[in-house]
This record gives sequence, C-alpha cells and structure tokens, in this order.
Amino acid sequence: MRHLIEITDLSRSEIAALLDLADDMRARPRDYGDTQKGRILATLFFEPSTRTRLSFESAMLTMGGSVLGFSSADASSTSKGESLQDTIRTVACYSDIIAMRHPKEGAPLAAVQKADVPVINAGDGGHNHPTQTLTDLMTIRREKGRLDSLTIGLCGDLKFGRTVHSLIQAMSRYPSVRFVLISPPELRLPDYLIQNLDDAGIPWESHERMEDVIGSLDILYMTRVQRERFFNEADYVRLKDTYVLTPEKMRLAGPDLRVMHPLPRVNEISPQVDDDPRAIYFDQVRNGRYVRMALITKLLEASV
Ligand code: NCD
Repeated sequence: MRHLIEITDLSRSEIAALLDLADDMRARPRDYGDTQKGRILATLFFEPSTRTRLSFESAMLTMGGSVLGFSSADASSTSKGESLQDTIRTVACYSDIIAMRHPKEGAPLAAVQKADVPVINAGDGGHNHPTQTLTDLMTIRREKGRLDSLTIGLCGDLKFGRTVHSLIQAMSRYPSVRFVLISPPELRLPDYLIQNLDDAGIPWESHERMEDVIGSLDILYMTRVQRERFFNEADYVRLKDTYVLTPEKMRLAGPDLRVMHPLPRVNEISPQVDDDPRAIYFDQVRNGRYVRMALITKLLEASV
C-alpha cells in the first residue's frame, strides 16, 4: 500500500514520472475521462479548504470516478468523539483512496496505521502539504524547464506555512538550488528545516526586506500569514501586513522572475500584480487539478 504523507515518500524519479503524466493529462484531459470509473475518492477535511479539496474532487470526477466526504470536522462523527483512526478505518470501507486534511501535525501518519486504502496528506497543521508541493513542482518545471539550478525566494510566514516546509524538502533534492528566506524574525523557518539545509550543505540566506533580494530570484514564493496558527491575535495583527508585493516592487525584479503563491492570498500580493506576466499563481491553481489526477492514478496502480 502506498500513501503520500510527506513529499520525500516519493523518489525523484517517481516525481518526474508523476509530473510527466500530469503534463499529459493537462494537454489531453479527455483521454483520461473514464480511467477511474467505478472508483471512489473520499475527501476528509477536518480543516477548511477551497483549492485542495475541490481540486481533488475535480481530479477524480475528470477521470470518471466518484467522490464523497466532508468539509468540516463538525459534519463528521469526530464531533461525537470518534478517534481519527476509527474514522479512517470506516471510510476505507466506503472508498478506494482517501485525501485528508487535519489541523494536528502528524495526524495523517497516525491515520495510515489502520488504513487499507492509500491515504494522501492534504495538509497537516503547520507541518506538511505534499500535494501542494507537487503542484508547485509541476508549475516550476513547466515555467523554467527544470527543477535544478534555481534561486528560490520564500516570503512571508515561513514558520507556520506548511507549503513552504514541503517545498523546501522537495527542492533540496535537486542540485544547485539556493534558498532565499524572507520573513520577519518571528516567522522564520523552523530550526529543524534550517538544520536539514545545513546538514545537506544547501546554500540559504535570510533577509527581512524583499526589496533587497527580489532582483536575484528565479522564483518568488509568496505566502499568507497563517492567522489560525497564532496563539495570540495581537501578534498576528502586528505581522500580517509585513509584506505586500506591489507593481513598484515588481519593477526591481528581473524579466524571468516567476511569482507563485499557494493561495488563498489576503493582502500579501496586490491584485494589480495579477496582470503581470510574471505572476503565475492562477496557472499554478490549474496545475493542481492535473497533478492530483496523476497522483490518484499512480497510488491506485501501486495499491492493487
Ligand atoms: C495552503 C494551505 O492550506 O496550507 N493553501 C492551499 O492548500 N492551497 C496555504 C494557506 O492556507 O495559506
């Protein structure tokens, strides 16, 4: 049984094969129109979501499969006190594959112990978000033609942003990648990830001002300050508008910069940037559907 709990569960060659399949699915979606006929995807979302849940559902529906699930913990028996393991074990009786999001770090890993269908982590607290990372890798590869030899700026909430954590783990495996970490001191990348970078000898630098470094980047990955992870509302209010990407700041960047964002955005990218051809976050959204089609296909193939 193959699950996807963190991005390093997939080898580099498996990722390459997945992205090849996703590119083909994006080019010819109708050719895959009944490849999952009769199969059921369950989406168990104990935490809110728009893109991740709907892209999973759209992915399965595009392949002729069906979907069931819930989009908040209140709507499930969790509200009666059922354990996560029991919920997963139950849902595995009704479905062929499960995508789950949970506010607790490590919850998906605990859930797979009793699951006899593939389980996909669709985000666990401030920890990991491997399917957003597959979306990001697909987007970077389509735009830049490669995943190596890139300078990647990550800006905003690097402490709680799970998409950042998974993306760094993924990109760390490609040669000649450099990370430029842009955050206020309070929202710096967790120590364990810094330690991993140092242990692997991967170059990184830390900055507080985006203007100082935007000119040197191939990718600028913007993130939202994660209000729901703060213990203290006053800290959130103080930090939430630290970074706002505007057309003026985009003037400092090179012509080949690509601006990404997992979305949802709050204030961190001005809508005036949306029409800049270097802003690719809505194309990134589109890729999320195809890469999840490819992932569902590969996990189901590996689990028969
Ligand atoms: C992200 C998430 O849920 O971690 N969104 C997403 O899945 N596209 C980022 C965020 O919520 O800020």
